[in-house]
Amino acid sequence: MIRIFVLAAGLFCAASLFAQPFLTKDNIPEIVRAMSPEEKACLVVGFNKGCPAYDPGLPGTGGLTYPMPKYGIPSIVLMDGPTGVRLEPDWQDGLGPVHFATCFPSGILTAASWDREVAAAIGRGIGQEALSFGADVMLGPGMNLLRNPLNGRNFEYFSEDPVLSGKIAAAYINGLQATGVGTSAKHFAANSQETNRLFGDSRLDTRTLRELYLRGFEIALRESEPWTVMASYNRLNGEYTQESHDLLTKILRDDFGYLGLVVTDWTGKRNTPLQLHAGIDLFMGGEKAQTEHILASLESGTLLMADLDRAVTQVLSLIVKTPAFRGHKASLKPDLEAHATLVREQAAEGMVLLKNDAGTLPLHPCRAGVFGVHSYDLIPGGNGAAYVSCPPVVHLSDALEEAGFELDPLLGRLYQSYAPYAEVEVALNHIVPVHVGKAQIPELELSNACIVRAEKETDVAVITLGRTSGEARDRIESADFELQPSEVQLLRQVCEIYHAAGKKVVVVLNICGQVETASWKDLPDAILCAWLPGEEGGHAIADVLTGRVNPSGRLPMTFPLDYFDWPGAEDFPYNFVSDRSNTSWIYPDGRGELKKNVSYTEYPEGIYVGYRYFLTRDKAVSYPFGYGLSYTAFTYSGASVRVRGDQIVAEVRVTNTGTVAGKEAVGLYVAAPKGGFTDKPSCELRDFAKTRLLSPGESETLSFSFPIRDLSSFDAARSCWDLAKGSYQILFGAQAGSPEAACSLNISHSRRYPVRRACEPSE
Ligand code: BGC
Repeated sequence: MIRIFVLAAGLFCAASLFAQPFLTKDNIPEIVRAMSPEEKACLVVGFNKGCPAYDPGLPGTGGLTYPMPKYGIPSIVLMDGPTGVRLEPDWQDGLGPVHFATCFPSGILTAASWDREVAAAIGRGIGQEALSFGADVMLGPGMNLLRNPLNGRNFEYFSEDPVLSGKIAAAYINGLQATGVGTSAKHFAANSQETNRLFGDSRLDTRTLRELYLRGFEIALRESEPWTVMASYNRLNGEYTQESHDLLTKILRDDFGYLGLVVTDWTGKRNTPLQLHAGIDLFMGGEKAQTEHILASLESGTLLMADLDRAVTQVLSLIVKTPAFRGHKASLKPDLEAHATLVREQAAEGMVLLKNDAGTLPLHPCRAGVFGVHSYDLIPGGNGAAYVSCPPVVHLSDALEEAGFELDPLLGRLYQSYAPYAEVEVALNHIVPVHVGKAQIPELELSNACIVRAEKETDVAVITLGRTSGEARDRIESADFELQPSEVQLLRQVCEIYHAAGKKVVVVLNICGQVETASWKDLPDAILCAWLPGEEGGHAIADVLTGRVNPSGRLPMTFPLDYFDWPGAEDFPYNFVSDRSNTSWIYPDGRGELKKNVSYTEYPEGIYVGYRYFLTRDKAVSYPFGYGLSYTAFTYSGASVRVRGDQIVAEVRVTNTGTVAGKEAVGLYVAAPKGGFTDKPSCELRDFAKTRLLSPGESETLSFSFPIRDLSSFDAARSCWDLAKGSYQILFGAQAGSPEAACSLNISHSRRYPVRRACEPSE
């Protein structure tokens, strides 16, 4: 039967040789009609080793599509990732220099800016570099929810809150796509764990799925049009997301109205015809077996040509938008200098000042004792698909010297003779085999005598503590979420010795996600959370420490007192150590014994993730969602809200009442009446905005708007959104549960909204 197809297709091609259509944006149906089943089956599977004339692209390329010159169809390049172009480290073309790309700030920092402009600027920078390297689609943003502090990829993602995630993602997508390059909103959906990532099953109820794990995507798709959405590796309530018609067609396309292409995450280990039927349009990285499976399934009737044609149409519709189709040629010359400046500026916008006793910060140039391995070896970004091989990173030690600080030279020498070891660790453990993840570098242990000597030579101490993580491995609770004994020891020694001499200690957190802070945060005088800030991180941290930039970042997640305070803490592989000799538990088909938190993970906390849980339980945290200090102070006035059409519009006026210029991030939270989206005392974020830089005494009125439908909660039994009538409290202020201003909105009738976005509500 395959032969008959081949013969028929061959005859058809021969017959139409003279009238061979050439792809334009207007003749896609004609091209689809002209293509043979073999050609279609090749086009929807990534260009792979089994294809004739296979070309792997630039070293580091995520994947390419299959070129078909006879139809004028170019190969397009899909490249990682969300924080910059991921080239193979140390890649040189010919005898030329090593090619670097800019390492932009990671996702959590972007979200911590609470500023769409920051996300858009980072997106634009990445888009420009993508063009330089000939990428057509960048494989980001990563936008899975921060369900648990230990997910290895949290640094790539945005927030524990789907509204912050969705709106930041939309701004990033709009910024990046404005450069003419596509994006891939990933990983759809409920992919909040790395352990056993190819097979793990996320088990959660429908309301939680709709209100948390899908909502960020729903919002991003409402506010932007990503060229592609990437389906995740995991299973969702037993079914692979990549094989789920409910998820990829019913929800993504019918309910959310998504019109673009759906690409797989990089695996061939799924049922190809089922995936096509579910709504997958492009199989990446692509395996010959997938093309064969498509042809065999057409022959056996288990795949409908209509499903294949839909996928082909999507691939062609993507291709006609790309730089490759426009004939763009890679220059391999990104503007690294301009982008380094951009990283420095944007990174500072997302740093969060956690503590600043007695005006310790900003610091004036002075003699500084700089401690901690990561003060000399900044971690710019995480590992795996988001790893970026960038020009030399600006370390905090270098940046402080540039800013006029005199650094204790002996300490510098001590750490610098230790820091190269750290770089070796990086190279060995997580750059080469990108999926392995980095072993945490043990902190250098210093004697009391060494610290006393440094104290005598300096006026202030700065200690950096670092954490990194990446794809395919989750973090663990002990000595990763928790500080390592050597780190605690260093903190105690430095604080004791400097405080005894009446001098201050500043801690910088160069981290990929939450760490435990409650047990030690009383020790230093100031704490700055700098996240994984990108290659210019040292400069950006120094800018905030010196007051060149007034910090305005706010936490996009809660810092709990203790890991086990986290909702569902036990329902995550928090202490998992991979046993490579026994992997039977990874298989989903019953061959091995199912292992909790590895073969499957339950989400018993439901919608109560992060602040939603801590507020409803009135449970103490170390730093709440939305927390962050400034060098100035703000007051709020004139809070108002009203309904305009199907939107809620609100305003609040923010005034800088302090003594230095600053920006204020403002969240708009809603507390629902009884019977509303949560009947426990709580509030949920629905929008946010940030002021421009306000001089002392200056004010700005911030406006907010979102659909009324966003006040409803998901009724799983009826599969619709329910809006309860009653009085809704509209609360302004970044920190969840601590409003600075409030007003109320009365909804006089309850309403029911169908799941389809465009449909009208019923009373
Ligand atoms: C990751 C994706 C990435 C893809 C291509 C996968 O392993 O999960 O995020 O875009 O590889 O490198």
